[in-house]
Amino acid sequence: MSISIRKIHYLFVGEVSGVDLTKPLSSEEVASLHSGMDEHGVLVFHDQQLTDEQQIAFSINFGPIEDSTGGNPTQKEKRLDDRMNDVSNLKPDGMPFAHDDRRRFFNLGNHLWHTDSSFRTIPAKYSLLSARQIPDTGGNTQFADMRAAYDALEQEKRDQIEDLICEHSLIHSRAKLGFTEWSEDELAMMRPVRQAMVRTHPASKRKSIYIASHAGNILGWEEPEAKLFLSDMVDYATQERFVYTHDWRQWDLVMWDNRCVLHRVRNYDPTKVRDMRRTTVAGDEITTPQ
Ligand code: OGA
Ligand code: MN
Repeated sequence: MSISIRKIHYLFVGEVSGVDLTKPLSSEEVASLHSGMDEHGVLVFHDQQLTDEQQIAFSINFGPIEDSTGGNPTQKEKRLDDRMNDVSNLKPDGMPFAHDDRRRFFNLGNHLWHTDSSFRTIPAKYSLLSARQIPDTGGNTQFADMRAAYDALEQEKRDQIEDLICEHSLIHSRAKLGFTEWSEDELAMMRPVRQAMVRTHPASKRKSIYIASHAGNILGWEEPEAKLFLSDMVDYATQERFVYTHDWRQWDLVMWDNRCVLHRVRNYDPTKVRDMRRTTVAGDEITTPQ
């Protein structure tokens, strides 16, 4: 069996065949997936019946796992291992959250365009999301290519954003949904960090727009102007022409590069089980000094 990658969107996204992620991979296989990520930004694998341990083992091929602590301050009691991010709609007992559950409201933040862990000083490199159980309809995940969005900017706009620094925090993304009541402990977990608005990919050397629902301010700007600018920027960068929509099959695994791709989940019936489990490969660089 040898790995092949077929591009399934005119800009990005590769569909991978010829690999079984439940088994250890050879260094050639890892290298070919790594270069597939550098080129496509998103890789889709079908029919990968992974356990959490196998998902972790596969993820570690690309770097150390990011600790999920602090990623969801409302989740005091966890269903999964600390090395897994629980992005399901399930309580630790395996049942969907009640309609008015605060943890459900927090998770609704994943419906806004974002890049994982941009609220951490060193934001994530890759995210790997495994579909363990999915609802019959809805719950697609969309991805937007921030390299293509950057390339399509006019030079004047590129010059304008080149050195901008944004403040990112879960406080900002959740405030967009009217979620503003936090305990002192939760606020301490969500302290804002700084991120550059333009990043250069270390392998492909392509520039990309680095923004997210977590971005709430631009250093040196008045807040209302910054918020409008950021909202316009997200609108621009997530136009249909830059977007791929993934319609999940059970046991798909989708892996994306948070340094150059945005994503969001689309609506689904919250009473139906959607068991999605993410591992996150830690980043290895800050985007700007703090
Ligand atoms: C994530 C995420 C979207 C989804 O795992 O980081 O945003 O489709 N998930 O569940
Ligand atoms: Mn996410």
